[in-house]
Amino acid sequence: MKKRWIVLLSTLLSMSSLYAISVSQFDSPLYGTAMLNAIPNYHAFGEVFTLLQREWFWKGFLIALFLVPVAGGIHYLLIGPKVFSHHGKKVFAFSVLMRVMHNLAALSFLVIVPTGFVMAFGDFFGGGMFVRICKNLHGLATPVFAITVLPMIIAWIRDMFPNNDDVKWMMIVGGYLSKEKKPVPAGKFNAGQKAWFWIAMPGGIVMIITGALMFFLNKDLSPVATMLGMSQIDLLRLSAIVHNILGMVVATFFMVHVYMAAIAIKGAIHSMITGYKEEEEVAILHSSWYKKLKEEGKV
Ligand code: HEM
Repeated sequence: MKKRWIVLLSTLLSMSSLYAISVSQFDSPLYGTAMLNAIPNYHAFGEVFTLLQREWFWKGFLIALFLVPVAGGIHYLLIGPKVFSHHGKKVFAFSVLMRVMHNLAALSFLVIVPTGFVMAFGDFFGGGMFVRICKNLHGLATPVFAITVLPMIIAWIRDMFPNNDDVKWMMIVGGYLSKEKKPVPAGKFNAGQKAWFWIAMPGGIVMIITGALMFFLNKDLSPVATMLGMSQIDLLRLSAIVHNILGMVVATFFMVHVYMAAIAIKGAIHSMITGYKEEEEVAILHSSWYKKLKEEGKV
């Protein structure tokens, strides 16, 4: 008897849900198109954000995650690192203050970048506590990075503007596709290092601002939103779009920077601690700077 009631009830339920679908009950003021339209300004940044978040961000981060290790691995196997004498004279390059700032930036990035990837693949990690801890670490490491931005900009910006050497450097990809040790046209910083500076510094400021806007999303951000002529929800969507896209670029360049400093040029990383670079390394990889230092009698 009981079984019969259950069968009857479930048949009635499935029939009514079929009926509901057939008369578009799910496209009501609560569900479907109507629900999307009811989201404030959905058709401004909401639609594009939803599409990017669902389809593209994770793919972009996945490419960023594999691109550098794979390209670096191929470069290391086919060409190998550049090795310079560490027994010759040294050239002074970075002051104590700059080394402290640079090391703080490096430490903060070693937290910011991996935790950023965890958030980008939050679904894969099952959301929850682990992703939330990473989000908080990401937020905590950011002020440490923020402290370093202005001093690094002030100290390095005058050597970071493009010049003729950069065009020549790019034509030969900085000499990194060859095993030869031929002098490469570059001043104190080469075109690749300049590109990293412009991405990491002004780009870093944009990352800090968009990140802060998202981190404090439950606070009243309407003064900022009104100043920019948009609603708070659109400000958050725009921040998320910019932060994700720029984040992919910053993370990719950061991995390249670490590969160059720690692997592709043997021992280059020492300058981060001592402030000195090897004379042979400067003569080959920064030939224009070396020429200038020679003329000034500094080497
Ligand atoms: C583990 C992390 C890092 C390592 C091992 C590292 C290493 C180095 C080294 C060895 C240099 C000197 C390169 C040369 O002149 O030959 C350098 C320069 C520089 N670093 Fe880093 N760095 C790290 C993180 C960062 C971070 C997080 C930033 C900024 C967000 C940064 C920004 C720069 C800039 C702008 C320069 C000058 C241009 C250049 O050489 O690329 N570095 N880094």
